[in-house]
Amino acid sequence: MSGALYPDVSPGLERSGRAAVWLMHQGRLLLTHGKYGAWSLPGGGIGPDETPEQAAVREVWEECGAVAELTGAAFPLRTQAGRLTSCFPASLKRLEASPEGRLLLWVNPEALPWCSDVQISQGLEAFERVPVYLQHPLSVQQASRRAKQNDFEHSSSPAVGRLLQQLAAMRPAGRFLELGSGFGVGTGWLLSGMHEGAVLVTAELDPERAQVVTELLGHDPRLSVVSGDGWPALELGPYDLIFADCAAIKGKGERLGGLVQALTPGGTMLMDNFTPHLWLEPGLAQRLAGGDPLRMALAVHPYLQTTELRVSDTEAVLLATRTA
Ligand SMILES: C[S@@+](CC[C@H](N)C(=O)[O-])C[C@H]1O[C@@H](n2cnc3c(N)ncnc32)[C@H](O)[C@@H]1O
Repeated sequence: MSGALYPDVSPGLERSGRAAVWLMHQGRLLLTHGKYGAWSLPGGGIGPDETPEQAAVREVWEECGAVAELTGAAFPLRTQAGRLTSCFPASLKRLEASPEGRLLLWVNPEALPWCSDVQISQGLEAFERVPVYLQHPLSVQQASRRAKQNDFEHSSSPAVGRLLQQLAAMRPAGRFLELGSGFGVGTGWLLSGMHEGAVLVTAELDPERAQVVTELLGHDPRLSVVSGDGWPALELGPYDLIFADCAAIKGKGERLGGLVQALTPGGTMLMDNFTPHLWLEPGLAQRLAGGDPLRMALAVHPYLQTTELRVSDTEAVLLATRTA
């Protein structure tokens, strides 16, 4: 969609940061229908002469006609596009017509599908109101904490985690391999989906990370942690599922043959962290302007049937099943 659906009455000034509003009224959360047809929390840019609080109050009025009173300190929120926003909890004083003529919606933030929204889920986390069915397995929470303490930003996303859990649950006696354990987030998701008769090898080159994974998850008899290069672990196959999650092994697809050989026929390989082309940052988009060699290598491999699956607005995975 090219233009805006609604007029934008915000001052056209240079903006410094962003502010949003978490406005609850009678148990419902206020959402606004945005420029690109998506529902989101009301919010926008902070003008140069405004405080974040003033911008929040102005934005929720401009977009929704809601005269709001802020009720607490802001919590940090990342928008879909990765921009950091200060989000203020607020209550409603009165509702007027939306100056921007937008559609409004009052939703139960703890119910599906709303609670899994990228913004709403962060709000629920900030207020410690994450519904049970969205909470991560304990081992994943512990591994995520260790990753955060170590400023490690390459753990699998929750959307990929849920997919790993599903794939693991589909093979009751499965043999699984994870190449690149990080701090054990993906390992935790896999274990949480695995049946008693399934086994998992996870390999991590960094000895400190491998040590943390052993400490957190090594008590599980279904798991073997390899500290070192994961490539030799392919010899221990064949595997029903390979989660190839380190750039060194994924490369541009030049080592794909070895990975495919280590799969059972009907076995699946998962690679995550692909960015849909619309969201590629300019430098990477430029480098991939002629095509993404890894995506291409998977697509044309004679023994693989590959599909690209969007797991969130900004992330895709490639699922490849060995057919011969
Ligand atoms: C994207 S992170 C893994 C994240 C993890 N799978 C998860 O789900 O949270 C990639 C990891 O691969 C590790 N790595 C890099 N080269 C490797 C290799 N040759 N063998 C095993 N691990 C490797 C890195 O040290 C890093 O921790």
